[in-house]
Amino acid sequence: MKAKKTVLLLLILAFGLTCFAQSTVEILVDAEAAQYKINRHIYGHFSEHLGRCIYDGYWVDPTMNVPKDGRIRLDVVAALRHIKIPNLRWPGGCFADEYHWMDGIGPGSQRPTMINTHWGNVTEDNSFGTHEFLKLCELLDTEPFIVGNLGSGSPQEMMQWVEYLNFDGVSPMTNLRKQNGRDVPWGVTYFGVGNENWGCGGNMTPEYYVTQYRQFATYVKNYPGSPVRKIACGPSGGDYNWTEVLMAGITRGGRSSAWGVDFHYYTNPPRGAGSATNFTEATYFATMRNALRMEELVKGHSAIMDKYDPQKRVSLVVGEWGIWNNVEPGTNPGFLYQQNSLRDALIAGSTLNIFNNHCDRIQMAQLAQTVNVLQAVILTQKEKMILTPTYHVFDLYKVHQDAKMLPVKFASPNYVLDKESLPALNLSASQDSLGVVHISLVNIDPNNSIPVSLSFNQVKWSNVSGQILTSANITDHNTFEKPETVVIKKFDAAKKQGNALNVNIPAKSIVVLELK
Ligand code: AHR
Repeated sequence: MKAKKTVLLLLILAFGLTCFAQSTVEILVDAEAAQYKINRHIYGHFSEHLGRCIYDGYWVDPTMNVPKDGRIRLDVVAALRHIKIPNLRWPGGCFADEYHWMDGIGPGSQRPTMINTHWGNVTEDNSFGTHEFLKLCELLDTEPFIVGNLGSGSPQEMMQWVEYLNFDGVSPMTNLRKQNGRDVPWGVTYFGVGNENWGCGGNMTPEYYVTQYRQFATYVKNYPGSPVRKIACGPSGGDYNWTEVLMAGITRGGRSSAWGVDFHYYTNPPRGAGSATNFTEATYFATMRNALRMEELVKGHSAIMDKYDPQKRVSLVVGEWGIWNNVEPGTNPGFLYQQNSLRDALIAGSTLNIFNNHCDRIQMAQLAQTVNVLQAVILTQKEKMILTPTYHVFDLYKVHQDAKMLPVKFASPNYVLDKESLPALNLSASQDSLGVVHISLVNIDPNNSIPVSLSFNQVKWSNVSGQILTSANITDHNTFEKPETVVIKKFDAAKKQGNALNVNIPAKSIVVLELK
């Protein structure tokens, strides 16, 4: 009887081990193959004069009872400093090619107004302009990325803006800047030569844009001590012809006046199923498929860039990315105010893994948009402020900034729904300047956990710790009433076994492991 029981136990154990062995994903983290650094600028953000991003987001009514510097809201600033945002893209977006920067300088009472035609036809009072933006960047300790007006502006207007921003000698623009209270130039490095000029920025063909770029970029000057990194308008989604014509037109003998090419891709949920918080698993699946397409697009555009720029001198800048849901019911459709769920966090984690793994070509990216617009990391309601699930992804992933990317090898299991499948697991790894290794793993399968076993080439470590972002449902989100439904928690399920690291990645979760 005792022998029978032992045999049964052994059989159960063997069966369990076989199951584990069959489904465990073997991952190799190969530090020996590491070549590239993950530029911290991949973790950038975008803030446009759109809806409640600038006005009533960062820049609030003087009577609002929150900590402020002038009209800049300091609780928002503190939250963004915590996730170390490396750059901020401004003033648009579509707004950029209608914006005349001189309307936004000088005494507030004398600034002219304009209509924000793209975003709700609201009156823009220009109270937030160049000085206010650069003050915000100083408070955030972040680098400005200013987008100039190529669509409806002139080369002279663009040239004068750069002179106002960056010139330290005697000149009309220096005098004007000093009159407006700023003696020393700011030294702005990143400057966009137009935005989406294939669409809202002028509906140009790529051939026409190339001619325009070459003319405008000529007048974006490098003043002593302030070299500018010019960023040309790149393609939308899978428009490979734009990239081809652009790269052919702006490179000569492997050299280009452009530091970057600004590519935009948004994740759209399926038509008619755009609610940010009320969606089915089928909608989730289709949306994730659209989000994961980012990798194919990055590879496609990079391959074209490789032809003209084999030395990878020109960066692929993903200047606008994120999920574009329906606006929240009852809000202005032109303001693009949307909630943000665990699904959006899984998209952010997966996208940032893609960017990390393609950091040979991607040197910069901006999530659209920081506060109260699209896939925001912060939502505000009068004095209240909440952090979205996407915010927590940027918090978890900040460890990758400026770290050495460690290539990973693995075969993902499938997330299957209605006979269709997607790779369930994605990840990236890096090693920081102190030798600490971080691995960010995303399991997009909402129903099944994934056991993984990591092995390492040329990595020394003895301790592992972890953090996790997950929740009971993919639709879960943080509200002003319940702001902590989706938050980071400690994760201590990863175990060192010999030199391997074994861990079960829970369904619909983002896990970041730290190895020391
Ligand atoms: O982020 C919202 C809009 O999306 C931007 O203004 C534009 O560049 C893009 O089409």
